[in-house]
Amino acid sequence: MRIRITVNGRDLDVEASAGETLVEVLRRLGFKSVKDGCYTGTCGGCTVLLDGRPVASCIMLAAQADGSSITTLEGLARDGRLHPVQEAFLEVNAPQCGFCSPGMILTAVALLRRNPDPTREEIREALAGNTCRCSGYVKIVEAVSLAAEKMRGRAGDEA
Ligand code: FES
Ligand code: FES
Repeated sequence: MRIRITVNGRDLDVEASAGETLVEVLRRLGFKSVKDGCYTGTCGGCTVLLDGRPVASCIMLAAQADGSSITTLEGLARDGRLHPVQEAFLEVNAPQCGFCSPGMILTAVALLRRNPDPTREEIREALAGNTCRCSGYVKIVEAVSLAAEKMRGRAGDEA
């Protein structure tokens, strides 16, 4: 079957087989930041933003995404500049092996859009569906907190 999806602002008309998951289609299209970790919806590595909401793309059929707008990590940078959450991850050295980082960053972006000033507890809660095998999450939470500060500062600058 053919599905129409918008990925990182680009309209795509894609062939997908009946049982094919969204993560499989996205990776086949070259969006390799979307990780295929557990295929059971538990690790969060395959997280993408679907119409702005973080979803596990491994437990979703590509057909279910027909007509949706999807953001992957590849779509976050603007005008050659990384998203503030990406910048903050690098600034505090949050990624270790980096496998979980795309999903963590997208989940954090969605959190900061709905809550620009989250507590550390709220950050931990939002990231509860994203597993990191390398770290104790301390640097990741610190990065999201720093990103929130940066984004609030930039919003103030623009006001
Ligand atoms: S690969 Fe989808 S949640 Fe782990
Ligand atoms: S940095 Fe390796 S899984 Fe998180």
